Amino acid sequence: MKYFLDSAILNEIRYAYENWAIDGLTTNPKHIMNSGKPFLTVVDELAGEFRGVENFPISVEINPHLDDAKEMVAEGKKIAALASNFVIKIPCTEPGLIAAKELNKEGIQTNVTLVFSPAQAIQTARIGASFVSPFVGWKENNGEDTAQYIQDIASIYKTYGYETEIIVAALRNGKQIVDAAKAGANIVTCGFDVYKNSFAHAFTDFGLNVFRNAWDNTAKEESLVK
Ligand code: E4P
Repeated sequence: MKYFLDSAILNEIRYAYENWAIDGLTTNPKHIMNSGKPFLTVVDELAGEFRGVENFPISVEINPHLDDAKEMVAEGKKIAALASNFVIKIPCTEPGLIAAKELNKEGIQTNVTLVFSPAQAIQTARIGASFVSPFVGWKENNGEDTAQYIQDIASIYKTYGYETEIIVAALRNGKQIVDAAKAGANIVTCGFDVYKNSFAHAFTDFGLNVFRNAWDNTAKEESLVK
């Protein structure tokens, strides 16, 4: 399963790319706002940072105020022209799906976002989007079962041979990453801290202390190893 970083903060993107082997990036208007920089500045930085990097999709979301398919397509084309690895992120509304269909037809990759039902995921795949982003954390906060939700999308895609890749989004912890993997997701996208926490375990720290203690109490000799 691929790991994308969900962020627009260059320092953490660089760190995760260099050290964690992340496979791609997703941004959204909230992440851009949190970066403290204007939209085009962030987008230019990302284009420059990953220019020439093969197979590293960067999802950039169109202006969320747009609700006319033609305007969405026009904006999507402008953003896509900035970098060959940009993927146009479009909300899963009826005009959004029409716009995604048009962009896909023109060879521009799309990521249909804010997906909360298998029915939305089916239409996303039918119109040929490159990625679908079902949100998990928001549904779980609402008391909904999300493991089944992702399993349903994955099994429908398999049955019909849809090639749209499933990016499970808005994850809050390692268990949700594992649930997404078990359900058959292609990709997860998480914030920096969610990944960092998922690499750790309290027993790992506990065990390390046991071994450090043993190391310190082992009979001493001249050694090259400190
Ligand atoms: C996914 O592509 C979104 O950017 C993201 O997961 C949004 O949700 P969050 O900000 O609540 O995590």
